[in-house]
Amino acid sequence: MNGNLGKFITFEGGEGSGKTTVLSRLSDMMKEQGSSFMITREPGGIEIAEKIRTIILDPVNTAMDGRTEALLYAAARRQHLVEKVIPALQQGIHVFCDRFIDSSLAYQGHARGLGIQHILSVNSFATEGTMPDQTFYLDIEPEKGLARIEANQGREVNRLDLEGLAFHHKVREGYHLIAESFPERIVIIDADRDIETVVNDIKGHLSLTLKGFRG
Ligand code: TYD
Repeated sequence: MNGNLGKFITFEGGEGSGKTTVLSRLSDMMKEQGSSFMITREPGGIEIAEKIRTIILDPVNTAMDGRTEALLYAAARRQHLVEKVIPALQQGIHVFCDRFIDSSLAYQGHARGLGIQHILSVNSFATEGTMPDQTFYLDIEPEKGLARIEANQGREVNRLDLEGLAFHHKVREGYHLIAESFPERIVIIDADRDIETVVNDIKGHLSLTLKGFRG
């Protein structure tokens, strides 16, 4: 619970899980319903954080140390939160965010082996304890997610896409561990279904979380 007027809803998942498509569908729906909402993404969402994003994701930065990577994500998260997310929530705007703290817990904490608890404490400093009201984790086998990315020629390839399949399996395993730790916040959505079904599933949950939202 963030204690603000707007709800903070985050979307998580491995590569090719369909977050971006789902968010654009939800955006159309929220507009139709005249809801006050904002869609943003991590790492990025505002100028300083977008600059940090280009450093983190640049495929030439192969020398980047795991802790450096974790700290840069936390720094980008902090700036995005105070500059964009919290002011919106305080005005009663619902914020839908493509990735948040759970990405760091799954990718840096579990898959990179830095430790979920360590990454949680670095991020607690960055966020001062702000957590999403609800998180949708779009779950798909890495083989299927990566195959979707290959089929989607328009998408940029980033440094984390270049990791091997074993890394992406660790990411998924990490998400499942985190979901077990936060069962009241994280909803696991089976993303290996057609987009219509996935969106309807999420709509059903949202109608319980967002007052006045028609699912
Ligand atoms: P992006 O192009 O946004 O990928 P996607 O469309 O899959 O969200 O790149 C974000 C990448 O950064 C993605 O591989 C996940 C990774 N990431 C982390 O490792 N830790 C984090 O805290 C965040 C926010 C992202």
